[in-house]
Amino acid sequence: MTRPRILAANWKMHVAPDAAQAFMDVFLAAYTPVAGRTVVIFPPAVSLLTVAMCVRRRADIAAGVQNVFWERKGAFTGEISASLAHAAGASFALVGHSERRHIFGETDQDTTRKCRAVVDAGMRPMLCVGETLAEREEGRTEQIVLRQLTTALAGADGSDVTGLAIAYEPVWAIGTGRTATPDDASTVHGVIRQAMVSSFGPPAAGVPILYGGSVTPANATSLLAAPDIDGVLVGGASLEPASWLAITRA
Ligand code: PGA
Repeated sequence: MTRPRILAANWKMHVAPDAAQAFMDVFLAAYTPVAGRTVVIFPPAVSLLTVAMCVRRRADIAAGVQNVFWERKGAFTGEISASLAHAAGASFALVGHSERRHIFGETDQDTTRKCRAVVDAGMRPMLCVGETLAEREEGRTEQIVLRQLTTALAGADGSDVTGLAIAYEPVWAIGTGRTATPDDASTVHGVIRQAMVSSFGPPAAGVPILYGGSVTPANATSLLAAPDIDGVLVGGASLEPASWLAITRA
């Protein structure tokens, strides 16, 4: 099965609206569409509209939101619902990024509600899973990743997962300069893919599984060449247009 490739930039708490416009001007002028490839930019929420406006005529590039709250509307100061993000132009939403889990205390159950809210708002969830260094050293990588996956998708059915993307991001590799080897990442991706197929049937083999954690222009090509790695989710190396362009062309 040929799966679509997704190259995703997670700008985290960087890139104000004016800088986002400048970045997109450079990137859009240089990046030509490639069949079967989607580029997704996850700016901070204040720059979402800017990025969404920049990409509105590009079917191959999408804007995404880094986080949503699961309630549809109401008195939730400081939060953004999935439908608000969608209205601002997001077509993807990150769910369960390790920084949300480890800095802000998000639980597996929170990711269930967020995935549901994102699908209900007509967006595609990009569900992030990954083990800590201690969990890896205890040999619990598969157990942790499968627990995060099955809890986030509890109650979902085949139609809910058609738009899903999954990002395997080992926590010890995020922002550390340590990358999982293509073989190590590929093994975990294979486990995730198998679990998806056994829960949701053969079409779930088409769910793209991205790798994230210290991806750079230097390692993107070998990661993307590995079986079962369908894309990359990139933090630090997505903040400069030249570096990001090199990764999107890997
Ligand atoms: P990094 O971040 O590329 O800076 O390691 C990846 C991520 O957290 O999505």
